[in-house]
Order: sequence, then structure tokens, then C-alpha cells
Amino acid sequence: MTKDPKIIIALDYDSADAATKLVSRLDPALCKLKVGKELFTAAGPAWVETLSRQGYDVFLDLKFHDIPHTVAQACKVAASLGVWMVNVHALGGRAMMSAAREALETLPQRPKLIAVTILTSMGASDLAELGIQEAPRQMVARLALLANACGLDGVVCSAQEASMLRQQIGIGFNLVTPGIRPASAARDDQNRIMTPTGALTAGANYLVIGRPITQAPDPLAALQSIQQEINLPSLLGAQA
Ligand code: C5P
Repeated sequence: MTKDPKIIIALDYDSADAATKLVSRLDPALCKLKVGKELFTAAGPAWVETLSRQGYDVFLDLKFHDIPHTVAQACKVAASLGVWMVNVHALGGRAMMSAAREALETLPQRPKLIAVTILTSMGASDLAELGIQEAPRQMVARLALLANACGLDGVVCSAQEASMLRQQIGIGFNLVTPGIRPASAARDDQNRIMTPTGALTAGANYLVIGRPITQAPDPLAALQSIQQEINLPSLLGAQA
């Protein structure tokens, strides 16, 4: 058990009932929870607030991307739900990220604010079509450095980018990595995957894990088995 669990379970469900079924078997000391657009749209803010009140660190993954004022206000409302982490799109730019950070700074207890760099679903040709000639990896680094310069607390990135970003930005900047698959799990539709241990060793602070836990015959056992794997003594240095 840890006060700062490294595993964030992605609650990718289309109803509060379905998510509650899993959450009722979990414990805030074992994991954090991620609520994305699908579940948030179905279950609403009151349900998110309930999760926070139950003691869960909730990552509200709504990826805000709008004009600075709108994003700043949205972040403030998200913070009022008691969540642990919120996020914005780094492509919203310096003014938008700075406005979000400044809005949260005024609060007595603020959530961590992180940025999505380049969606892992996008490749070089998708970027070229948008007029972006830089390679995805370089764009990820560029946007992560910008997020850091704007005072954000970290970024969502692929575990395969974690060591590059850790080298460029140093410690204290949170790297939150999806696309995590224990060696024995199915890849599903994720292409650029890494094991939980591999991601932490590469410099990730938190691992977003969905289907390997939520679709497992026994989700709690799946979570505990990943916990055991990442708590091996050889990794404790990497997690500090
Ligand atoms: O089920 P799985 O472990 O693939 O779920 C990963 C979670 O991380 C999903 O909620 C997905 O939307 C999210 N995510 C991702 N890749 C990103 C950003 C978020 O898979 N680049």
C-alpha cells in the first residue's frame, strides 16, 4: 500500500453504474482513477465529486482546448470537484496554458495541471496534413518544454517518450503514461506499448491502465499483480 499509488485506472465506461461496480471493489490506497470524456458525459460532475469524497485521487481527463479565459474557468470548476489532476491540450498554446495555471494558483488546494502533447493516435502524416512538418517525437518534446515553461506540473506522454522528456526536463515534472501492458496482457488497439516496470524505469511517474485491469476476469487481482510487479525492490529507486 502507498499514499501515492502509481497506477491510475482508466474508467472507460459509459455509465456510472458500470464504473461503480468496479470502484466498489477498489481502495484509494491501491490506485488512482481516471474519468474521461465518455464517463464524465454519462455520469456528470456530481459523481466525480463523490469519487473524490471517497478518498480517491481522480484524474479528470477532459483535455480542455479553447480560448484562455474559457479553459481557465473550466479548470477552476474542475478543481471545485476536489479532483487530484486536470489536463489541457498543449496545442492550445502558451497563453492558454498560463491562464489555466494562474487560475488554479489562486485556489487554496489546487489539482495538478498537466498537458496532452501530441495524441499518440497521430503520426507524422496526420501532423503534416495540419501543416506541422516537425516529427511527432520532436513536437512532443517541444510541447512538453512549453508546458514546463508555462509552469504546468507535467504532461501525458507515451512511455517511449518518457526517458527523452526526463532527460530534457529533469525531475519534478510529472510524466503520466498510457499504453501500458503487463507482459502477459493483450495489446488491444494500443501500438506503442510498454510494461509497467519498463515505463517507471524510463521515468514515468504515473501509469494509466485501462483494459488490462477493467476487462480482466478479476480486476482487483489484476491490479494487485501489477502492484506487486512495480513494488519490486529493484524499481524503488526509479519511482523516487
Ligand atoms: O485500456 P487502455 O489501457 O488502452 O486505456 C488507456 C487509457 O489512456 C484510455 O482511457 C485512453 O483514452 C487513454 N489514453 C491513451 N493514449 C493517449 C492518451 C490517453 O491511451 N495518448
